[in-house]
Amino acid sequence: MQDILDKNIIEEKTGNSITCEVYDELDSTNNRMKQYIYSGKRDVDLIVADSQTMGRGRMGRSFDSPSGHGIYMSMLIKPDAKSDNALLITSAAAVAVVRTVRKVTGLDAMIKWVNDIYIGKRKVCGILAEAVSYSEQEVDVVLGIGINVTSSGDMFSESVRDVAGSLYDPGTCSADKASRNEIIAAVVNEFNSIYGNIGEREFIDDYRKYSLVIGKDVRFLKDNDWVFGKVVDIDDDGGLIVDTSDGRILLNTGEISLRLR
Ligand code: BTN
Repeated sequence: MQDILDKNIIEEKTGNSITCEVYDELDSTNNRMKQYIYSGKRDVDLIVADSQTMGRGRMGRSFDSPSGHGIYMSMLIKPDAKSDNALLITSAAAVAVVRTVRKVTGLDAMIKWVNDIYIGKRKVCGILAEAVSYSEQEVDVVLGIGINVTSSGDMFSESVRDVAGSLYDPGTCSADKASRNEIIAAVVNEFNSIYGNIGEREFIDDYRKYSLVIGKDVRFLKDNDWVFGKVVDIDDDGGLIVDTSDGRILLNTGEISLRLR
């Protein structure tokens, strides 16, 4: 059965709580949402594309976005400056996705800090949160989520082929496939239920529970040098607490590497 993206189904499955736009192709759903914000349009909560020609990842990387095989979505978040911060929003998104992926695949998906979702040794989802100022004092966050649903093999560029995977890889998943509309709505619903009381930080328990990195040896770049350490915990703001030979360090952003194979 063809898995067609449908605005009405997505909206209905979110209890008609959001306004959604669906496109066959965009350069990047994050770019489209940012253009809207810059032009003063802040009434579309979710933009979804069947494919992206310039899907963007963190650290200037690209995100492979083949048609018919993935979910490329951007949510507009209007943070309450008093209680939210970008790291919390991004950690909340990771928890929303990991809960959804576990439900729809039955597999033990995990979070690699900050917000990559893995099934086994393969990355199945990446999250790119971008802050956009729409007035002198206020910022929105564009929360971009890319999920590989059935993509495989040479749909991934060579540079990520060794590590990229998808939810319904026939080698790892025997569950019946949920439609992309169902998965998108489930992520939105999970995220909105967490975001409703993000200040309470209840979701951080799951952020820790599903962490792939707590207790692991990692390395990360600091001032262009590799620092080696062991992750001891995640703090209540989603920061990573790492013991290094120079003492305990709190990481609030960046990227860590760990040995997965
Ligand atoms: C990463 O893995 O570094 C983050 C990938 C984020 C990809 C998503 S797909 C939807 C949205 N639009 C983009 O251009 N990027 C994000």
